[in-house]
Amino acid sequence: MLSSFPPNFTALIQGSSRGIGLALVERLLNEPRVGRVLACARRPDGSAGLARLAETHAGRLQMVQLDITDSGQLEALADGLRAERLRPHLVINVAGILHDGQGLAPEKRLEDLDFERMQRVFAVNALGPALLCRHLLPLMATDGKAVLAALSARVGSIGDNRLGGWYAYRSSKAALNQILKTASIEARRRFKNVVLAALHPGTTDTNLSRPFQANVPDDKLFSTDFVAERLLSVIDQLELGDSGGFFAWDGQSIPW
Ligand SMILES: NC(=O)c1ccc[n+]([C@@H]2O[C@H](COP(=O)([O-])OP(=O)(O)OC[C@H]3O[C@@H](n4cnc5c(N)ncnc54)[C@H](OP(=O)(O)O)[C@@H]3O)[C@@H](O)[C@H]2O)c1
Repeated sequence: MLSSFPPNFTALIQGSSRGIGLALVERLLNEPRVGRVLACARRPDGSAGLARLAETHAGRLQMVQLDITDSGQLEALADGLRAERLRPHLVINVAGILHDGQGLAPEKRLEDLDFERMQRVFAVNALGPALLCRHLLPLMATDGKAVLAALSARVGSIGDNRLGGWYAYRSSKAALNQILKTASIEARRRFKNVVLAALHPGTTDTNLSRPFQANVPDDKLFSTDFVAERLLSVIDQLELGDSGGFFAWDGQSIPW
């Protein structure tokens, strides 16, 4: 796996404290081809999962404090990479927000829309990832294939929207998709070896999906480890011509 990347390459996972991000960090650490994994999280010290991985993979795992909505912290991350002359071949933006158990919940109807809550969802799901592209694309490895992927969601597809609702989450993921597509066009001129992709993980058993799992059949609810393996396999198969695309966990293209 990951044979499309050079040996000893560096991967950076943004949003790694738990859920799919943590499973991606663990999978990457178990891949012989991966040299170093930079695990970014709002509170790396508060993540039991990262602490467990640090015990077994000290030396290859580097934790970085990063709130994706803080542009100063994004600049500091970029400065740190420059200082260490570290050029990642793989960057995955994982962090996303749907609900917080404290008032932020997917909207069922127009009356549920709230300016500040929508701003928060857009900040994490779309604006932060846009600034991540701004700061990290120029710092990615220039030898061989490099990939900048972001976890989107099928519900962000406008063409596939049959049920309505979930205004902020749907539209923030649609914005994320457009940002990645736009950056992929600029990358064709400026960062020619980088493939950008929006990825849908499928319904995965995490805090994010837990309140909405009741009607999901068992075989359609994936474990984080299964999804991490599938997403890395999709990333491994990406070619330059795929850049700017929107792909599901099984490699299928998703309509905009
Ligand atoms: N689970 C699903 O069924 C599903 C389906 C489709 C798409 N997705 C997408 O997949 C991605 C991962 O979801 P998940 O299911 O793993 O969710 P999760 O278990 O709820 O984890 C969310 C992650 O995002 C981080 N995060 C939230 N706000 C942040 C911020 N401001 N800065 C940095 N990190 C922040 C959280 O960190 P803290 O621990 O600090 O809060 C946590 O690591 C999301 O983009 C989600 O939209 C998930």
